[in-house]
Amino acid sequence: MGPKAAMTFRLVLAGAAVAAIPAAATPESQPRDIVQQRQQDMKAMANAAKTIDAMFKGSSPYDAKAFKAAAETIGSHSGEKLSSQFDGSIAASGSKASVNIGAERQKFDKLAAELAVYASALAAAAERNLHVLSPQMRMQAGEAMMGGPLARKAQPDRDVRSMPAEHAFHLMLQTCTSCHAQFRVRPE
Ligand code: HEC
Repeated sequence: MGPKAAMTFRLVLAGAAVAAIPAAATPESQPRDIVQQRQQDMKAMANAAKTIDAMFKGSSPYDAKAFKAAAETIGSHSGEKLSSQFDGSIAASGSKASVNIGAERQKFDKLAAELAVYASALAAAAERNLHVLSPQMRMQAGEAMMGGPLARKAQPDRDVRSMPAEHAFHLMLQTCTSCHAQFRVRPE
């Protein structure tokens, strides 16, 4: 991934390490409430994204099963599942969820749904590429980069299955970032 993408990726995952501290300090593994549950699910998505990122970078060997499992982890925590975790108690104690979620519900749900589309495209790519991370999975030169004008106009339902997996991955990270920018209160 290019430097710009890598930077955004670090921003997306920045919360993960910090957020791991309170969870580790909690003795029971069962989350106490919906806030803990959704934060735990977000962390699971961050870890899954790291797994996929490491394979694109080559810092982990390509493993189609692990790639697919990571994509499915993200898929299982996105879409309606994600949306429903922010139905009530948005501004609960210990939560960084913004009250804007209530006011801009459709935008929030759309981002959650987009995440699911990208995740399923990534899982499908792993199914088509069982042995090697093929050149077809790679983003081609000149393709819409995250943050670029084309990326903003990307229509997940129509384009995502025909784009290289790496491109879908970048757009997926952009979806994480976009939702956080709009609907997560900044850590002080
Ligand atoms: C539709 C909106 C939305 C999308 C998409 C989204 N997030 Fe989040 N994320 C949130 C909100 C809101 C919070 C704050 C939750 C809370 O504290 O109650 C959050 C919190 C987090 C946290 C901190 C969890 C903690 O322990 O406090 C991490 C890490 C995270 N997200 C990673 C990701 C990753 C990685 C993706 C993409 C694969 C992603 N998120 C996609 C809305 C979203």
